[in-house]
Parts: sequence; C-alpha cells; structure tokens
Amino acid sequence: MNGQLLTGKTAIVTGAASGMGKAIATLFAEQGANVVLADLNKGAAEQVAKELPEGKAHPVQTDVSDDQSVAALVKETVSTFGSIDVLVNCAGVPQAFTPIEELSLEQWDRTMAVNTKSIFLTTRHSVPHMKAGNKGSIINIASIAGIRARPGLNAYCASKGAAIMLSKALAIELAPYKIRVNVINPGPAETPMLGKFINGDDAEVEAGKKDIFINSVPLGTLIQPEDIAQAALYLASDLSKIVTGEVMNVDGGRGI
Ligand SMILES: NC(=O)c1ccc[n+]([C@@H]2O[C@H](COP(=O)([O-])OP(=O)(O)OC[C@H]3O[C@@H](n4cnc5c(N)ncnc54)[C@H](O)[C@@H]3O)[C@@H](O)[C@H]2O)c1
Repeated sequence: MNGQLLTGKTAIVTGAASGMGKAIATLFAEQGANVVLADLNKGAAEQVAKELPEGKAHPVQTDVSDDQSVAALVKETVSTFGSIDVLVNCAGVPQAFTPIEELSLEQWDRTMAVNTKSIFLTTRHSVPHMKAGNKGSIINIASIAGIRARPGLNAYCASKGAAIMLSKALAIELAPYKIRVNVINPGPAETPMLGKFINGDDAEVEAGKKDIFINSVPLGTLIQPEDIAQAALYLASDLSKIVTGEVMNVDGGRGI
C-alpha cells in the first residue's frame, strides 16, 4: 500500500469492535487516520483501541439505531479530533433464515433500525461538519444480499437494498458539497456474523457455511475482513476523489 493514505483525516467507523469494522479501523489507523471506534460493545471497542497506535483511536460506546447516541458520538468525535472527514457505516445485524409469516415485528424493526435507519442518523449528524469543510467520504457497508436475494433473508435483504438506494440518493444530494457517498457490498465473509445467518447447532452452522456460503462464491473462498478494509481504504482516500454513488461488490463474484 502507498504509505499513509489517510494522514490528517478523522474517520468514524461504526461496528468497529468486530469483523470488518475492526479490520477497517485498524487499516485506517495504520494509514495515518484518527479513528473513532463506535460500537454497542464497549469492552470489545476498548480492546481494539488498545491494539492501535497510541493517540490514533478513540472508542465511543454507541447504539447506531438511537438518535441521541449518534448525536453524542458525532459531538465527541469533533471535540476529540476536530473534524469528521470519513464516515464508515459498518455496524449491522444478521438474520437467521426465517419464513416471512414467522418474522416478528420486533425483528423487522430491529433489522431496519440497525442496518438502514443508522445510516440516516449518522449521516444527518456528520454532514454539517463535512459541509463546513467542503469535503467528506461516506462509505456504507451494505451486502450482496441487497441486490441478490436469498430465501428466508427477507428483512435483511430489504434493509441492505434500502441502504444501497439511500446511499445513491445521498451521493447526488451531497455532491455539490464535495461529499462522496459510496457502498461496499461484501459477499459471505469470515466474521463472527456469518454463522448467525444459519439456524441449527454448531455442526449444522459449520456445514451451512460450506454448503450455502462458500459454494455460492465463484472464486471459491469466503471474503476476509481485510478484503473489505482495502476497498474502504480506496473509497476513504483521495485515490477515489472522483468516485461517488458507486456500489462496489467485494464478493468473490457472488453477485454475478
Ligand atoms: N459477515 C458477512 O458475511 C457479511 C456479508 C455481507 C455484509 N455484511 C455486513 O457487513 C457489516 C459488518 O459485519 P461483520 O460480519 O463484520 O459483523 P460482526 O458481527 O463481526 O460485527 C458487527 C458489529 O456491529 C456491532 N453492532 C451491532 N449492532 C449495533 C448497534 N445497534 N450499534 C452499534 N454497533 C452495533 C456489533 O457489536 C459488532 O461489533 C454488517 O453491516 C453486515 O450486515 C456481512
């Protein structure tokens, strides 16, 4: 990688305590960014911060589905590091395969709140700071499930499809302010979330990872969190300064 691509930039990464969010926060800090690690899981976010270069990482316990919590996150980011240049919406919740008639209202609402409403909340609070600087990069981690459905993932697919279209609407709205908005669609990835898409005991989950997920990827392997981090680095940095409204599938060909 070309040295320090994010020197002088401050990034909020939601879901930074685990999986892809952790990999993104780690790579961003290595590339010179100040990183705010926003996650519901306070202990795990604090642990990630300890593993990063001193002074580069600041954990903030955040519920991305809660407006007041997100407002506090943005306020703390600006008071700690002085600006917001990059916002990565990575926090998300999975859905185990569920027939539509068995899906509870609570599960539908929670899925939409964490995977979709969160993007509205983090963006509405961050954009005034980005507009003031006349620059910014917002990266929304949706899913290949947002464009290619699977049976029983009804709420999850809907939440990610909405995240993709919201991102495009924001890209066109915010372009005059030089704020770019792009999407990464991961394919099935080797993180703690993957097994939670499958119902069953440990053996069934392991078998499902192979039968359902690995076999659905033309390149034949699960996606690694670091693969997503590399794509996010491109979209966060000035290497992509003319790219907005783009939906990048990082999925081993699953979306073909
Ligand atoms: N793992 C996959 O196969 C896969 C595939 C496509 C897309 N995705 C998406 O990628 C993103 C990252 O997933 P991952 O696999 O790294 O998952 P993960 O479970 O490893 O990490 C998700 C993180 O989000 C946090 N989180 C959950 N709800 C939150 C809330 N309300 N507020 C703040 N933080 C919250 C969790 O505490 C956790 O640290 C998610 O949006 C997910 O939907 C995952």
